[in-house]
Amino acid sequence: MKITYLGHASFAIEFNGKNLVLDPFISPNELAQNIKVSDIPADYILVSHGHMDHVADVEAIAQNTGAGVISNYEIVSWFGEKGISGHPLNLGGGCEFEFGSLKYVNAVHSSVLPDGTYGGNPGGFVVWSDSQAFYFAGDTALHMDMKLIPMTCPKLDVAILPIGDNFTMGYQDALLASNFIECDRIIGCHYDTFGYIEIDHAAAKKAFAEKGKELILMDIGATIEI
Ligand code: NI
Ligand code: MN
Repeated sequence: MKITYLGHASFAIEFNGKNLVLDPFISPNELAQNIKVSDIPADYILVSHGHMDHVADVEAIAQNTGAGVISNYEIVSWFGEKGISGHPLNLGGGCEFEFGSLKYVNAVHSSVLPDGTYGGNPGGFVVWSDSQAFYFAGDTALHMDMKLIPMTCPKLDVAILPIGDNFTMGYQDALLASNFIECDRIIGCHYDTFGYIEIDHAAAKKAFAEKGKELILMDIGATIEI
């Protein structure tokens, strides 16, 4: 898989020949002004929950590409009213897609859409093919249900976890989360975008390195292949 960081909690992931875009919040993000939303290829847009800093560019990308939304029932219905197609899920449920298997898993957070519409329960995604797997946690606190992921899904190659604290878990809790999900290669997200979530990069990386784990903090626009 090829993972490109689009800033905040937004990623473009080429997985099993398909382009997935996760939680696009690009045009309002001052740190991501070098990313052109109209250039982002997408076959599917995965939305973890309804907050503005995760859905801002869903509509633009869907209109540019014809991509459908994969999210919870409430969010897929909300975008459906705007003429955007989608596949609704609810927590604990999974489905087969062209790119592989996807399961919508628990997150401990809140979820309301930008116009105040109830956004259903927040979640994260585990995505896997015959050869690779990743977990995108969405916005979440550390929680014990993360222990269910290695019990119910294939071994993860990488996990994308929020590390900015304040609105989600911080990096110390993300380090514990990496134990729960049995994955030692973590990409951090949901940090530095706003004053509340600025973090010390060196301290965060050191905390992981001391436990023999890797915390990857990607430059916005950078791509890594796993
Ligand atoms: Ni949120
Ligand atoms: Mn958020």
